[in-house]
Amino acid sequence: MERSGMTQRRRIMIAATASAMAAGAAMVMRPSGVVIAHPHGAPLAVDLADLPEGKLRTVEWQDKPVWVLRRSAAAVAALAAHEVRLVDPDSLQSIQPPGCQNRQRSLRPEIFVAIGLCTHQGCAPGLRGETDFLCPCHASSFDLAGRVFKAGPATVNLVIPAYRFEADNRLLIGVDA
Ligand code: FES
Repeated sequence: MERSGMTQRRRIMIAATASAMAAGAAMVMRPSGVVIAHPHGAPLAVDLADLPEGKLRTVEWQDKPVWVLRRSAAAVAALAAHEVRLVDPDSLQSIQPPGCQNRQRSLRPEIFVAIGLCTHQGCAPGLRGETDFLCPCHASSFDLAGRVFKAGPATVNLVIPAYRFEADNRLLIGVDA
């Protein structure tokens, strides 16, 4: 019962965070879709040209760490192999843009973007090889699509922010695709 209540409160907190991020993004978009400057909610451009396969880059956006990971084809293929061990493999209870509600939780299979904060109590997980992200606080782990494994206390997948590709090797975080 207590666990269920905590889970509900966490979901509300995560939903509130996502709403705030969406509001921040909306503040920088005119109806025409033209991006205008804003000190806090401004979209963040990320150059991917020098991001090699298997490497994780962390950038800061809206005072939060945002991960950009270039996954290998093998890592993408492996996402199908462990879904029975996941809490929410189809991301039905998760926060992500509509275009990212797929197995990879991404617009492109090889590029994974997520808010790098554990959905349990907000610690910063780390990349563990090319297998998963491990949170050092209470040992929750997330696959390379940010989907939470059943073994730890976190019960919600990582949050995926709005983003789009401006070019082959250039991301814009904070605007809808
Ligand atoms: Fe990540 Fe508790 S904060 S497992």
